[in-house]
Amino acid sequence: MSAKRIVMSSDHAAIELRQALAAHIATLGYEVEDIGPTSSESTHYPDHGAAAARKVAGGEADLGVILCGTGQGIMMAANKIPGIRCGVCSDAFSARMIRAHNNANILSLGARVIGEGLAIDIVEAYLGAEFEGGRHGTRVDMITALEG
Ligand code: RB5
Repeated sequence: MSAKRIVMSSDHAAIELRQALAAHIATLGYEVEDIGPTSSESTHYPDHGAAAARKVAGGEADLGVILCGTGQGIMMAANKIPGIRCGVCSDAFSARMIRAHNNANILSLGARVIGEGLAIDIVEAYLGAEFEGGRHGTRVDMITALEG
């Protein structure tokens, strides 16, 4: 297991699923930093996506798992932080591939799209995969170059 420290965040739409996943990820042996929120009060997903993304981009976490209702808005926000490659997944194959081929450093999930059992499968597929490098490294470098 090369990545050890996982940061997690969500908006109000995904608090319960985030907390369930945080507990599960900890049982797999990862250090989980869950940066909230904890209140179900309506909040703004860009703030929470950016907060987790800054921790990954700054090296305080190796990988991130973030959630909102669809996973889409918080993913868009996270991807605005330089150095972040975040994808939304609703299946385990895509979750494995965004790590193996795209070296995604954040996984995004939609709490209104998938249930807890599938979310656990997806997270395990993502965390269990390794970046393959080689030609995929060339392409990921090309993504990074687009940041200007
Ligand atoms: C909040 O109602 C909802 O818009 C948000 O959780 C997310 O789905 C946005 O992409």
